[in-house]
Amino acid sequence: MTRPLNGGVTAGRPQSAAPGATTVEMRGISKWYSNGVMANDHVDLVLNPGEIHALVGENGAGKSTLMSILCGLEEPTDGEIRLDGQTVSFSSPVSASEAGIGMVHQEFKLFPSLTVAENVAFRAEPTRLGMFLSRREARERVRELADRYRLGVDPNAKVGQLSVGMLQRVEILKALHRDAQVLILDEPTAVLTPQEVDDLFAVLRELRDAGRTIVVVTHKLREVMAFSDRITVLRDGRSIATLTTSETNPAEVAHHMTGRDVDLDGRYNAGSPAGVALRVDGLFVQNELGVMVVSDANFSVRHGEIVGIAGVAGSGQTELIESIAGLGGHSSGVVELDGTDIHQLSAAERRRKGIAYIPEDRRGVGSAVTASVSDNLAMGFHRRAPLRKGWRLDRAAMKRHSADIIEAFGIRVSHAKVEAGTLSGGNLQKVIVGREMSHDSAVLLVDQPTRGVDIGAIENIHGRLRAYRDRGHAIVLTSAELSELFALADRILVMYGGRVVAEYPRADATEAKIGLAMAGITQQTLTGSEETT
Ligand SMILES: Nc1ncnc2c1ncn2[C@@H]1O[C@H](COP(=O)(O)OP(=O)(O)OP(=O)(O)O)[C@@H](O)[C@H]1O
Ligand SMILES: [Mg+2]
Repeated sequence: MTRPLNGGVTAGRPQSAAPGATTVEMRGISKWYSNGVMANDHVDLVLNPGEIHALVGENGAGKSTLMSILCGLEEPTDGEIRLDGQTVSFSSPVSASEAGIGMVHQEFKLFPSLTVAENVAFRAEPTRLGMFLSRREARERVRELADRYRLGVDPNAKVGQLSVGMLQRVEILKALHRDAQVLILDEPTAVLTPQEVDDLFAVLRELRDAGRTIVVVTHKLREVMAFSDRITVLRDGRSIATLTTSETNPAEVAHHMTGRDVDLDGRYNAGSPAGVALRVDGLFVQNELGVMVVSDANFSVRHGEIVGIAGVAGSGQTELIESIAGLGGHSSGVVELDGTDIHQLSAAERRRKGIAYIPEDRRGVGSAVTASVSDNLAMGFHRRAPLRKGWRLDRAAMKRHSADIIEAFGIRVSHAKVEAGTLSGGNLQKVIVGREMSHDSAVLLVDQPTRGVDIGAIENIHGRLRAYRDRGHAIVLTSAELSELFALADRILVMYGGRVVAEYPRADATEAKIGLAMAGITQQTLTGSEETT
C-alpha cells in the first residue's frame, strides 16, 4: 500500500499553517430568532488550522445555530467572523463555500440515482481554482481526493446503494471538492456504528494533519476525549470555556456543559420481571421491495423487564420494532399482548390496546413539525380521557399535560405553543420520549431513545425508563450505543441479517460477546473455542 504524501503521521501536526489553511475567529456572535429566542449570546470561538475542535453543550445551547452562522445559512444579529484576520460576512452557504467553509449536515442532500462523482460535482460552484470540471475530470478528482484522504469511496458507485457511513463520506467529498479548508460536521456520529465512528475520525485526522480546520458538534464525550484537540463548551447560548482535550476529563467537560455534576456511568440495576407482556412468535417481515428484513423472530418480554436489541445498523432491529407497533412492511407470525394476538390489528388499534412507540425518525414519523409542542405532546391522546371531555378536548387538561412533560423531561422551550420544528434536535427527541412514556402503555417500544440528546438528558431519560420498568411496564429498546444497552437492558438480543442470532441475560453479556454476535459470529459458529473478553 502506498502511503499518502504526509506519511499518515498523526503526532506531528503542522506547526506553521499549510498554504490555504484558515484561522477562523467568531467574535461576539449573537443570534435572536424572530420568535424572540436568543440562541447565541456574544459567543467567541477560535478555530485553528490543523485541529479537530469539538463543540459541545446541552440541547438548545446554540451549537447548530453557531455553525449555521459560520457556514452562511443564518446571519448573525451581532458580532463578526474573521478569516485569517479579515472580517467577512456570508450572505449564503455559497459565499461561505467560496471562502473555504464547508458543512456536512445531518440530513444528507444527495441524489440516490446518481453516482458518487455526479453527486460531488453536481452543480458544483467553480472550485476555488476557478474552473468547472467535465465529468471525467470530476471522476478523476473525486478518486484522487478519496485516495488522498483514504475515504474508500468508489466514484462510480450509485449513491442509493451506499450505507449511511459512506453517504457521509460523499458529503465530506463534496466539501473537499469545493476546496473547503474549514469543515463543519454537526452530530456526524449520531447515525454511525462504532466501527464507522472510528473510521470517520481516522479520515478527520488525515484532514487535520493536512492542515484543515475541523469542527465536530457532538454529545458523545467519549468521542470528544478520544478524537478532539480542543473543546469549546456552550451553555445557554454563551461560550463557557475552551479547553485543551489532553488537559481535561469527561467530568470537567460535563460540569461546564451543565453547571452541575453528572452521573456519566449510568449504573445498571436489575429489574424484577413478572408475567409475559409481549410475545413474538415466528415473525417474518418483508419490506416494500419484497426483501425479507426480519426472519423468524421469537422472543418474549415480561412486565417489569427491559429487553435490548443490539445489532449493526440495518440488521432488522428497526423493522422488528416497527412491525410490533403495527407499521412497516408485510408481516406474518404471532404478536401477542398479554396473551391476546394483536397481529391483525392496525397501528392505531395496537396503540389503544397498550403499545407505545418511539420511532427512530423523529421528524418524519414521530412528530408534526409544523404543529405546536403542546399539540405534539397530546398527539395520540386526544381521543380519550383525561384530555377529552365528552365531545371536546379539555384545553386545561392539555395544558397541564404538556407542562408536566416539559418539566419532567427538561424540554428547553420558551412556550408550549411554539412550533415543534423550531426546537433543537435533542429537545424534539425529548418531546417524543416524554409523550410516549406518558401513555402508561403496557409495552413501550423504543428505537434509539437518546439519539442526539445531551448527557444530562440521557441521565434523566435512563432514570425514567428504569422507573417505568419498575412500575411493571415491558420495554423493548434498540440502541446504536452498546453502553446504553448495558446501562438499561435486563436481557440483550442480538440481530444479524434480520435474525435474532444470540440472546444474553444481562449478567452474561459482555461487549466482546455482543460485538462478535453483531458481526454474525455466535457461540454455535465458534464451537468449542473460548471467547476473549
Ligand atoms: N429556526 C429557528 N427558529 C426559532 N428558534 C430556533 C430556530 N432554530 C433554533 N432555535 C432555537 O435556538 C436555540 C438553540 O438551538 P440550536 O439548534 O442551535 O441548539 P443545539 O445546541 O444545536 O441543540 P441540540 O444539541 O439539541 O441539537 C433553541 O432554543 C432553539 O429552539
Ligand atoms: Mg443541534
